Amino acid sequence: MTVRAVVAGVGHYLPDRIVPNSEFEVSLDTSDEWIRSRSGIERRHIAAPGQTTSDMAIRAARAALADAGLEPDDLDAIIVATSTADFTFPSAATMVQAELGMTKGFAFDVQAVCAGFIYALSNANALILSGQARRVLIIGAETFSKIMDWTDRSTCVLFGDGAGALILDTAEGDGTTSDRGVLSTDLNSDGRYRDILYVDGGVSTQTTGFLRMEGKEVFRHAVEKLAATATTALEKVGLTGADVDWVVPHQANIRIIAGTAKKLGLPMDRVVVTVQDHGNTSAASIPLALSVGKERGQIKRGDLVVTEAIGGGLAWGAVVLRW
Ligand code: UT7
Repeated sequence: MTVRAVVAGVGHYLPDRIVPNSEFEVSLDTSDEWIRSRSGIERRHIAAPGQTTSDMAIRAARAALADAGLEPDDLDAIIVATSTADFTFPSAATMVQAELGMTKGFAFDVQAVCAGFIYALSNANALILSGQARRVLIIGAETFSKIMDWTDRSTCVLFGDGAGALILDTAEGDGTTSDRGVLSTDLNSDGRYRDILYVDGGVSTQTTGFLRMEGKEVFRHAVEKLAATATTALEKVGLTGADVDWVVPHQANIRIIAGTAKKLGLPMDRVVVTVQDHGNTSAASIPLALSVGKERGQIKRGDLVVTEAIGGGLAWGAVVLRW
């Protein structure tokens, strides 16, 4: 028998306020047409003043717990993937732990920007396979609205706020790719590219800073590296694009999503797309898309899912799992 980390539940939370592209036309030299055609984004949710990343993470966590039929004390660990935690410390994960009333186990954050959820999922899988945890709650939660330069039209129209959560439980499989659960993971980073996507502030500058991006450069790396990491993750378990039921990509730009799907040889009707409604929610985008994809009736038990992301660092990776 082989130990597998199997999806037990999924859920998400989006802030109430929806900002359509047309709202930016008032304050910036931009248009709904430009944003739609260059990125695929039509609207995004923005957190209320004072609403924090941990607040959204907790709501997504409760939704995932309800979906799994579990209580907080059934969990052994919480991992929050975020670059926009409420405070420099403590971690958002310990804030979620306290709010859920969970007094045992352990909680920590993972910071790999837009690839954060892939890194967190991979680490949760490793915790389960090594016997260090039985049930792990993994959350991607971000308030990128707080690190936007609202006068920079090349970035502020692209991002949104939100949170998604997924629970992995320990199960036994046969050791084949027919097993439910995480089948393979592939993580990469290359710090030589740190200057093409970064925040120009932080503890060392005693400012929060704003997101800065060379969009064209990031775009160029994205399609190539996402297709490569997804292919590598599939090859690790002897699978190809033809075996995939759903690609659940990081939702940054519809042109990146479509370009990657094409390289993988997959038609767009096998890709979960939420970028039009959420914009780029960084580490939250994949768990949001998994939750919405399940809600829409796209992702079903037993489906082979490939999920991939790239972001600041650059950091990127992919996870293959059977839902
Ligand atoms: O999640 C982390 C990963 N991030 C990403 O994956 C983002 C990757 N990059 C992208 O998605 C795209 O590069 C963008 C959507 C950011 C930009 O699309 P693009 O086709 O690469 O456009 P561009 O940067 O080449 O800009 C084209 C023009 C420029 O004007 P000039 O220099 O050609 O006169 C920009 O100044 O569009 C201009 N522009 C805008 N125009 C209207 C930039 N932003 C805007 C805007 N509205 N909001």
